[in-house]
Amino acid sequence: MPRPIEALVHTDALRHNLARARAGAGDARVWAVVKANAYGHGIERAFEGLRGADGFALLDLAEAERLRALDWRGPILLLEGCFEPRDLELCSRLHLWHVVHCTEQIDWLAAHKTHEPHRVFLKMNSGMNRLGFTPAAFRSAYARLVALPQVDEVSLMTHFSDADGPRGVAHQVAAFQAATADLPGERSVSNSAAILRHGLRNDWVRAGILSYGSAPDFPEHDIAHWGLQPAMTLRSRVLAVQALAPGDTVGYGSSFTAERAMRIGIVACGYADGYPRHCGTGTPVLVQGRRTATVGRVSMDMLAVDLTELPEAGPGSEVTLWGRGPGGTILSIDDVARAAGTIGYELMCALAQRVPVHVSD
Ligand SMILES: Cc1ncc(COP(=O)(O)O)c(C=O)c1O
Repeated sequence: MPRPIEALVHTDALRHNLARARAGAGDARVWAVVKANAYGHGIERAFEGLRGADGFALLDLAEAERLRALDWRGPILLLEGCFEPRDLELCSRLHLWHVVHCTEQIDWLAAHKTHEPHRVFLKMNSGMNRLGFTPAAFRSAYARLVALPQVDEVSLMTHFSDADGPRGVAHQVAAFQAATADLPGERSVSNSAAILRHGLRNDWVRAGILSYGSAPDFPEHDIAHWGLQPAMTLRSRVLAVQALAPGDTVGYGSSFTAERAMRIGIVACGYADGYPRHCGTGTPVLVQGRRTATVGRVSMDMLAVDLTELPEAGPGSEVTLWGRGPGGTILSIDDVARAAGTIGYELMCALAQRVPVHVSD
């Protein structure tokens, strides 16, 4: 019998979340952002739930090839564009739209022999200082691109640094609008937080984390607030039960000491499965759908949970590390991420290879 741990990808939740993105996007078309192997869910596994999107946005050319192998014929956008000149050949062959964020990428296009002109998204660095042309350099980059025979359509985009927080997006929106006001072309500015919090629409929105059922601005708002559903469940079972007397300790480093008699369950899940080692005592977990908490340090293959108030739980009991539990219960990945001092994005992307993943409808 295999270890009892498994992950589930919920097609219905992906569909639901995408519909949520559409509701927030008005008339804008929706990119489902599926970089990092669909945020850890697996492109092939997430495809059915997300195929109602207007396009897919990602970074890796190999992932774009996988989407075409699924017979996706609609738009695919490479969010970082080409990494070297010969990537343009694949863009031509697979009809990939690509971001242009630096002068070198324009030089490569100018030297590229293509039968069909390319659609590009010219990216502005409106304040995040990651990728893109500054507002001052944007117009000359635009002029160069529209003059190239290799290019038939130039769209305009930028990315927000603070759509999920108090600084907001106004300063970046102002910079973007000032530099692009009289330029023709479709626009794309919004990630999940901008869709949900700022209602910014333009022509295309880029729905990443919300599609997977994690709140971009947790803990200010949670998935219930935004009407999102977890698209990934990580679940396992209790392998063994230990009875603790006051003063007994649990796990490596004896970081937890029982102050009273306790029952703990040892669960087949550890950091080698992608469960964060930084989750200390008190991280929420569901056992048979009832909320309890971890005790002690997470080890490579196991962690311990408090069963003191759950006398019916024992070896074989189902444990939900995040996602959907039995009887309609839910433990948001955001709650677990917070206990690890991180964000839901990181946990879903870090699901380990060794965990078997199944698609559930
Ligand atoms: C350029 C770009 N657009 C959109 C997204 C999607 O962001 P989110 O997952 O917060 O919706 C990302 C993700 O980091 C991105 O880099």
